[in-house]
Amino acid sequence: MQSRPRRLRRTPALRALTQEVQLHPSHFIHPIFVHERTDVTPIATMPGVSRHSVESAVAQAREALALGVPSVILFGIPDHKDALGTQAYAEEGIIQRAARAIKAAVPQITVIADTCLCEYTDHGHCGPLCEVPGLSGAEGWTVDNDASLALLARTAVSQARSGADVVAPSAMMDGQVAAIRAALDEAGFAHVPIMSYAVKYASAYYGPFRDAAGSAPSVGNRAGYQMNPAGGYREALREARLDAEQGADTLMVKPALAYLDVLSLLRREFDLPVVAYNVSGEYALVKAAAQAGYMDERRTVLETLTGMRRAGADAIITYHALDAARWLQEQV
Ligand code: PBG
Ligand code: ZN
Repeated sequence: MQSRPRRLRRTPALRALTQEVQLHPSHFIHPIFVHERTDVTPIATMPGVSRHSVESAVAQAREALALGVPSVILFGIPDHKDALGTQAYAEEGIIQRAARAIKAAVPQITVIADTCLCEYTDHGHCGPLCEVPGLSGAEGWTVDNDASLALLARTAVSQARSGADVVAPSAMMDGQVAAIRAALDEAGFAHVPIMSYAVKYASAYYGPFRDAAGSAPSVGNRAGYQMNPAGGYREALREARLDAEQGADTLMVKPALAYLDVLSLLRREFDLPVVAYNVSGEYALVKAAAQAGYMDERRTVLETLTGMRRAGADAIITYHALDAARWLQEQV
């Protein structure tokens, strides 16, 4: 026999020497939910994840940095919600307060702000609603795309002003990257990158997140603006191209696991960094199976994150970030 691939798999050292894909804490982005309370409340559908006070969000950032995880992404849970999501762009809004506190206490951490309105609107949609002329019932209203752009731009500027290093628009409104880029540049934040949720599907995998953030739409769903899982590669390429043309600095695919083919396509077709979002439902699946004793959590998580890297992800937003960073440290 001439070829014996097993020769290079005999020992851990040989395997490490020849492996192509590296998984390192520097690739992880740690998500933090921040609410306006002083207590820390666990999220039932995401074991191990909590809603944090501003103070404990700072502690989370400090812990991430100590574990070699260089960035956090902030999601705000406001006390007050209204039709226009005004707390998303309020100077004393929860994200703004959290970003200021984190950058003051842990300046080395990169703070990414999720830029969307759904956590802040009383109807739970990613922008204000408007009527569709001539139609009624379920077809008689929609999310007002162009009115949303102004509010998202305002949100991004207010986040940057509060110290956010990166803004991450996730509303899936047409033209949102261009609107945010123009507003940031005009306000003196030409140096702030846009991490665009470029390819974001209407997915059941966001269930636990919406429970955590209280952001499930009270009427209808998001299928009118988030992408159709059956849309295929042409739609994914078009969304990514539009965002690249509008000035997105990185492209994201969300969720990750059911869409790794799309991720790998974007990696090949674009010269921008690609981010994978390992979403709340993907996290919940693994936690539930691990808690039931069906699977080994550590091995499952590290294998899954490695798969995302192999598919082409430069960075990974994952609720496993701190655990995975700890496990990787233990391995060496
Ligand atoms: C806000 C936003 C959502 C997620 C990230 N940003 C919720 C949604 O689109 O419904 C989901 C993240 C997750 O499930 O972990 N638009
Ligand atoms: Zn949203």
